[in-house]
Amino acid sequence: ETVCKIVDRNVNSQTNYAQAVDILNAGEVVAFPTETVYGLGAIATIDTAVKKIFEAKGRPSDNPLIVHIGTKEEVELYIEHISEVAKKCMDLFWPGPLTLVMPVKPNVLADSVTAGLTTVGIRMPDHPVALDLLQQLKKPLAAPSANRSGKPSPTEAVHVQDDLEGYIPYILDGGTTGIGLESTVLDVTHEPPVILRPGGITKEMLEAKIGPVLQPSKTEQTLETTPKAPGMKYTHYAPNAPVLLIDCDLKKVHEAVHQLQKQGHKVALLAPASFVDSKADYYFSVGEAGSKEEMGAALYHALRACDKTAATIILATTTSTEGVGAAIMNRLEKAAGGKWYTS
Ligand code: TXA
Ligand code: MG
Repeated sequence: ETVCKIVDRNVNSQTNYAQAVDILNAGEVVAFPTETVYGLGAIATIDTAVKKIFEAKGRPSDNPLIVHIGTKEEVELYIEHISEVAKKCMDLFWPGPLTLVMPVKPNVLADSVTAGLTTVGIRMPDHPVALDLLQQLKKPLAAPSANRSGKPSPTEAVHVQDDLEGYIPYILDGGTTGIGLESTVLDVTHEPPVILRPGGITKEMLEAKIGPVLQPSKTEQTLETTPKAPGMKYTHYAPNAPVLLIDCDLKKVHEAVHQLQKQGHKVALLAPASFVDSKADYYFSVGEAGSKEEMGAALYHALRACDKTAATIILATTTSTEGVGAAIMNRLEKAAGGKWYTS
């Protein structure tokens, strides 16, 4: 049994990085912050180390991992052919929350990273702790989000601890992550490129720089029998109590809270700050009304907070799918299993 050591972000000393590097070089896993969510990393060339990620998370092994690099130049070591569009994306959006799916060079990365695919997703994270770690390690880190499979991704070190204490030896604490939603996954092996998972780099931002980009609708994604991003087919981001979506409308929300309580429910409400006076049993703010950035940053924390209450049902207010709204609604629909409140 391993003891989970959490390194205080205020310590932030060279010793902490040195310890993390030693643990990783010994073939173990380390959790670290990125600008999106916390990742659970292992050296991407050591198959036995990468397998420990799947064990700790309880993750199905057919779901490939994202490879994180500390410098743009490293891409050439792992990618067979870097297209012009891919180069443009790296120049414009790296470091940042954009994962590029590209053809992988055979036999350079551990087999369990790619789960048998001929492509790999790579990104250079934009977080000082992640970059310091990668640059000191001088090796690529395979890292999915550092949550138990199916739970909301961790946006704070304590979320990682809640899920993985006893399963992993080390967490580098970098405070609360900024974006709060996982990176955009863009398949650039396609012409035009396809967004396999919406995230902080939006369709609008991409199209302004590289021209048309496909963002399949939810229906198209669920209709596909073998989704291109294998992770998209699993239940995700779900707290313990069922989640119901509802329009961000004060009157509708008050009525729904009232009806559900009449049925005997303890209701948790996830809504903008202006809903604070609702009669819900538990209320978690997702930021100022209308700010998608605040909503993205607060969402997973709020979903996780519901698990610490006695709520029997969770009402979550929705937003439009413009900009980061596409990523927010993608995660909310998954958390709710597509269910909406109906009176
Ligand atoms: O922001 C993020 O991307 C975080 C941080 C830690 O970097 N990582 C993350 O990883 O969210 P993970 O493993 O939870 O999600 C990776 C997603 C999954 O949906 C997976 O199926 C997809 O990317 N993916 C990975 N490699 C792929 C590939 N070669 N082709 C298609 N999809 C791929
Ligand atoms: Mg994940």
